[in-house]
Amino acid sequence: MNNFFKDKKVLITGHTGFKGSWLTQVLLNWGAEITGVALVPSTQPNLFTILKLEKRIRNNYLDIRDFQKVKDLLMKEKPEILFHFAAQPIVRDSYDDPLKTYTTNTLGTANVLQAIKETGCVKSAVIITTDKVYENKESHHPYRENDPLGGYDPYSASKAAADIIAQSYIRSFFHPDDFGTKHSTLVAVARAGNVIGGGDWSPYRLVPDIVRSIYEKKERIIIRNPQAIRPWEHVLEPLSGYLMLAEKLYNGEKSISGAWNFGPDEESFVSVEKLVDEAVRILGKGEIQISPDDSKHEAGILKLDTSKAKNLLSWKPRLSFNENLSLTFEWYRNYYEKIEDPIEFTNTQIDSFFK
Ligand SMILES: NC(=O)c1ccc[n+]([C@@H]2O[C@H](COP(=O)([O-])OP(=O)(O)OC[C@H]3O[C@@H](n4cnc5c(N)ncnc54)[C@H](O)[C@@H]3O)[C@@H](O)[C@H]2O)c1
Repeated sequence: MNNFFKDKKVLITGHTGFKGSWLTQVLLNWGAEITGVALVPSTQPNLFTILKLEKRIRNNYLDIRDFQKVKDLLMKEKPEILFHFAAQPIVRDSYDDPLKTYTTNTLGTANVLQAIKETGCVKSAVIITTDKVYENKESHHPYRENDPLGGYDPYSASKAAADIIAQSYIRSFFHPDDFGTKHSTLVAVARAGNVIGGGDWSPYRLVPDIVRSIYEKKERIIIRNPQAIRPWEHVLEPLSGYLMLAEKLYNGEKSISGAWNFGPDEESFVSVEKLVDEAVRILGKGEIQISPDDSKHEAGILKLDTSKAKNLLSWKPRLSFNENLSLTFEWYRNYYEKIEDPIEFTNTQIDSFFK
């Protein structure tokens, strides 16, 4: 894959965020020419600044809700490959500001797809949604790509809507049957689970909450939903799937157009409490306090069936739950305890993963 991306013109929306910064670093290492479109980083610290990405790519601070600006940028940069990450991705924030969540996640996605349609330069587009797009039945049934979509909270509903918008664009304008005759763009939609890894400081997310409690506030780690089970996966796992999709779409593999799940194997469906225990063990510090659940409704059980990606892409999760947590919490320890240069440390993790 690294040879494929060399010198390719790639546009990443949401490149200042957690997943976008990791992807930008991976693609820089592989020699891609990167244009980024996002808002200024919203947390302090943040991975985008730590990796010094602003100066290493064609950086644009731009609101994806402004169609004309998105289109003008595509006209100017003419990317061949596009990854769409930009979103308001926090469930709790979506309760506080549902309209911002809906406009960013739905209109923003439609703007990106419409700009792709009107400019015609993008050959391969990967639209990132989430495992929360599925109508959640709170059962142990793992969701498959053709299960019904839905959404209880505004975040899930907005991402389900974004997913439907992307599929509507595929059917209406980027249909694989018309590829090469009526259009020259193939689009895939990627749904991943609870993604963790070094460099995330988003609010209301478990891993950032743990490291903030230990290293910044120096207080006990408060957990409210100890029994909630989540499909924890390291950020490099879904990214490797998105990269595979992008390459195959670029090469004109029509069967790749459509929706894909990227989740961990069964052993990584683990409770919040177990993850926190393991974090304390790896970091060698931290005390846990369980507090009554005052949170808004969030899905209790969420499992993904990844057999499509395994069978048709030969993608599979590479890390065990313990390896995932080691990579994640060792990244933060390295950062807070200033052991190694964080760019070099991040690159060591990327290299060892892709080897
Ligand atoms: N992190 C997870 O666990 C997870 C799980 C499933 C899906 N996802 C999806 O992956 C994507 C990235 O998530 P993340 O964790 O990196 O989030 P993040 O909050 O770290 O990054 C979000 C990015 O979107 C950009 N953005 C937000 N509003 C924008 C706007 N109006 N215009 C332009 N840019 C805007 C931000 O500037 C930032 O670069 C999102 O689409 C999210 O829904 C994340």
